[in-house]
Amino acid sequence: MKFRIFFLTTCLAIHIAFTYAQNAEVQADPKMHFFIDDLMKKMTIQEKIGQLNLPGSGDITTGQTTNSDIGKKIKEGSVGGLLNVKSVTKIRDVQKVAVEESRLKIPLIFGMDVIHGYQTTFPIPLALASSFDMAMIEQTARIAATEATADGICWTFSPMVDIARDPRWGRVAEGAGEDAFLGSMVARAYVHGYQGDDLSKNNTLMACVKHFALYGAAEGGRDYNTTDMSRIRMYNEYLPPYYAAVEAGVGSVMTSFNEVDGIPASGNRWLLTDLLRDQWGFNGFVVTDFTAINEMTEHGMGDLQTVSAMALRAGTDMDMVGEGFLTTLEKSLKEGKVTIEQIDKACRRILEAKYKLGLFEDPYRYCEPNRAKTEIATDDHFNAAREIASRTFVLLKNENQLLPLAKKGKIALVGPLANNPGNMAGMWAVATDHRQSVSVWQGLKNVLGTDAEIHYARGANFVEDPALDKRINYGASVGDYSRTPEEMIAEAVSVASQCDVVVAVVGEAAEMSGECSSRSDISLPGHQKALLKALLDTGKPVVMVLFTGRPLTMTWEQKNIPAILNVWFGGTQSGNAIADVLFGVVNPSGKLPVTFPQNVGQIPLYYNHKNTGRPLPEGEGFHKFLSNYLDVTNDPIYPFGFGLSYTRFTYGNLILDRTQLTENQSLTATITLTNSGNYDGAEVVQLYIRDLVGSVTRPVKELKGFQKVFLKSGETKTITFIITPEDLKFFNDDLKFDWEPGEFVIMIGGNSRDVKSATVTWTK
Ligand code: BGC
Repeated sequence: MKFRIFFLTTCLAIHIAFTYAQNAEVQADPKMHFFIDDLMKKMTIQEKIGQLNLPGSGDITTGQTTNSDIGKKIKEGSVGGLLNVKSVTKIRDVQKVAVEESRLKIPLIFGMDVIHGYQTTFPIPLALASSFDMAMIEQTARIAATEATADGICWTFSPMVDIARDPRWGRVAEGAGEDAFLGSMVARAYVHGYQGDDLSKNNTLMACVKHFALYGAAEGGRDYNTTDMSRIRMYNEYLPPYYAAVEAGVGSVMTSFNEVDGIPASGNRWLLTDLLRDQWGFNGFVVTDFTAINEMTEHGMGDLQTVSAMALRAGTDMDMVGEGFLTTLEKSLKEGKVTIEQIDKACRRILEAKYKLGLFEDPYRYCEPNRAKTEIATDDHFNAAREIASRTFVLLKNENQLLPLAKKGKIALVGPLANNPGNMAGMWAVATDHRQSVSVWQGLKNVLGTDAEIHYARGANFVEDPALDKRINYGASVGDYSRTPEEMIAEAVSVASQCDVVVAVVGEAAEMSGECSSRSDISLPGHQKALLKALLDTGKPVVMVLFTGRPLTMTWEQKNIPAILNVWFGGTQSGNAIADVLFGVVNPSGKLPVTFPQNVGQIPLYYNHKNTGRPLPEGEGFHKFLSNYLDVTNDPIYPFGFGLSYTRFTYGNLILDRTQLTENQSLTATITLTNSGNYDGAEVVQLYIRDLVGSVTRPVKELKGFQKVFLKSGETKTITFIITPEDLKFFNDDLKFDWEPGEFVIMIGGNSRDVKSATVTWTK
């Protein structure tokens, strides 16, 4: 009797909980819920599993869809969406097969890596983060969404928000750098930009935050490698940007290739269900990264059937390319390894995404050929790209105000990137038309007109090893091996000798960063340093324009080259934007979102590190028995947040409205900023806080706010930050997000190293 009562009460409780959960879903959008209910009642198990399948597009061509293998699968109802199909006509063609020739006429979702723009390509994400301008980043995502949706795409595999503190990892180029606060702001900006306020509009894209989670912490900076870290670090330093994207309403999440706590992300139930859905309340769908389920076999988790069942149970909804779900889930269902509820849940989430995108109402919503003709690569978009690119460049050095250059005389333009349109866009330029990319040479010509002469010499290849050359360029060599490196340098020197100034455009090739582009030596590649030395020897002033997708080790360059402008990869309009900055049409205002180390041995080197029990005071040399190296100081070449301007910004004293606070009080910190130089310009004023004593160790400083302010030459502004206990919160030993009373150092400055500081006490 007792047992019966217990059993009945438990059943009732489960029923109530289930109905409650369902009701919440129904209430969110009853129309969608009942529509999908109805549809799912008609679906066979194989059709449900088909929705979870995201094959690659293969070699599908317009007009051939019906005959292809993919076409056959679409008709059978075995495909939920496709990845990286390019062009509105192709997509329309494929969609037609789905909605006219499959039994239930369910439309497909079309995803693509629209990472930093579409055909109008913006600077790489690391560069965009350097702008510290969230409205501008949102604008790039908005334009990308307009162009991609005009070309048939409704889903992008962006933003990539992996915190990266190891510049050997090539994918540092795809994210916002090393800081969780900045990373979270950037994540929100992308999501809002892509998704707008209504996903069903024909010019908004569903975003996909990736790679969940911790992909940027790959050991040794080697792509796809193992990650392992404490929960406390995870929660405080690596997870916040993913969470910010979820909070901003991101429609989908992509799993990462790596393991988290010993279990590959795609099969990690703690990550995908306990954390993502139960703690964070994510209600979109989870897609794996490319063949990530199949790769779980290589990770040592079992055969394809085992890992596919594991992924579904963990909370993965869609299988990218590997077809593990498609080929094994029905068997696993029969064998009791997965349940129909698990398949239903995943299928429902995919259908909901399609519903939200408005695809059931009009499967061709994103397939208007007219839009493709008028809304892609427009003059407006190109103009925006030019201005945006110029605001991402970081001026690293400018001795004796060598920059900006005068528009006159003879300019030697030298280096492997000086006249190289194919390398302007940077990695992940899937929809870029490189013929539209403006080279540096072209940009200089555009800005200079007949005011100055440009004399060009290549000077060096990217690298001198032809095998490596092919590796950094998808198998096609970009080098000129008809001449020796010495001959190329000699030519550049002779050109430089006849000129007034040298602009050396050097750095990495576009594909030296990005996926599977890890480097163990992150110095300037090939003979480029030798080229720079030879150019310096001419006695002419040398400006180094640096293309890179990662921090480089450049101690020698910093010491010897008078002016260094880091332009990352600026996208389609690189050349014009670079010329705008070199000749002072635009004053550079970018700040580094990553630390540049002196050498590879210092890695990982990041500004918000812990203090240790034996800290070396900042800026000091070797001390026996303190935490340092025998052969190099602990300092970076350039700290996080660093970047110069053609003008000079002077910070006044830091003023706090009080120094003793209680829990419901806020602190107002003000500082005056004066543009004391000769140019108008923008400065990123940065707020850092240090929590001096905690129940767990706390970083030496953490970015907690920033403002990008524009000041005319001679102008002074008062910059104000309001700080509340919210800004002091962190995850403690119980993973509880809270703040602790005590002393806090408030710091404000133009980078993470040079700050004005004052201390306050906050009680609870
Ligand atoms: C990358 C993802 C990308 C996917 C689809 C993978 O190799 O890791 O970032 O979205 O391919 O192209």
